[in-house]
Amino acid sequence: MGPDLSVEFAGIKLPNPTILASGILGVSGEIMIRASRAGAGAVVSKSFNVKGREGYRNPSFIEVQGGFLNALGIPNPGMEEMREEVETASKMGVPVIASVFGFDAQEFAAAAVMGEKGGAIAVELNVSCPHVKEVGVEIGQRPRVVAEVTQTVKSRVRIPVFVKLSPNVTDITEVARAAQGAGADAITAINTALGMAVNVDSGYPILGGTLGGLSGPALHPIAVRAIYQIRRAEIFRDVTTGMSKFLEQRGLSSIRQIVGIAADRGTVES
Ligand SMILES: Cc1cc2nc3c(=O)[nH]c(=O)nc-3n(C[C@H](O)[C@H](O)[C@H](O)COP(=O)(O)O)c2cc1C
Repeated sequence: MGPDLSVEFAGIKLPNPTILASGILGVSGEIMIRASRAGAGAVVSKSFNVKGREGYRNPSFIEVQGGFLNALGIPNPGMEEMREEVETASKMGVPVIASVFGFDAQEFAAAAVMGEKGGAIAVELNVSCPHVKEVGVEIGQRPRVVAEVTQTVKSRVRIPVFVKLSPNVTDITEVARAAQGAGADAITAINTALGMAVNVDSGYPILGGTLGGLSGPALHPIAVRAIYQIRRAEIFRDVTTGMSKFLEQRGLSSIRQIVGIAADRGTVES
């Protein structure tokens, strides 16, 4: 038997800490089972919504320097069919995280409920797709809307809710804070960075969807930066909550009062 690599977070236990990101390998139950057998600790499904989507015309996935650009347009068969795929994998013991999206909070919630019915161990809110209008980063760039979506989904499912953030924002900590404040159990960082490739001979965009999401090695330092910023912001918050608890326990309302007490003591001792 190998070493125990199991991890526990946000109320779920996984056999190891590797999680297959949402994308092309989460479209069917069978392929999710294969990913799990190949060693994934958990598998995130392809993002799905209530009615499904056809996606964009090709080319929708191209190689660029340092990675890939994709503008798939979140093609998926809709929540009824995806519930079955999630169920197929879940019944085989695969820890599936259902990735969902929608045009408003209610649609997110309806898809999340379906994921839970299919046996998903958690739900991931894709509020960060950079290339689909109105459902992706338009939501993920607005902390208040992220909070509304998170809160609505939290009120409708019992499984943990993760919020997948976009790097295409000025301050990722604002969005992370909004998600956490609304009850998110974890943050997924990060979705792709908005990019574009142009055919220099024709002058036209290469991707059928014009704009795409950059993934791969070039995205890695951006992901590390995002995680660092979110983490650092949380540490800062821990310090401030710790400080306010400290004051509360001593019947003090402001840090200035401590200065007063210290000055008093200083006077007595001298
Ligand atoms: C072809 C493709 C499809 C993707 N589809 C989804 C998706 O449906 N939902 C989602 O949240 N992220 C999707 N992603 C984003 C990935 O889950 C991941 O966040 C991104 O690729 C960055 O990680 P990487 O650089 O390790 O690939 C997709 C990425 C690619 C390349």
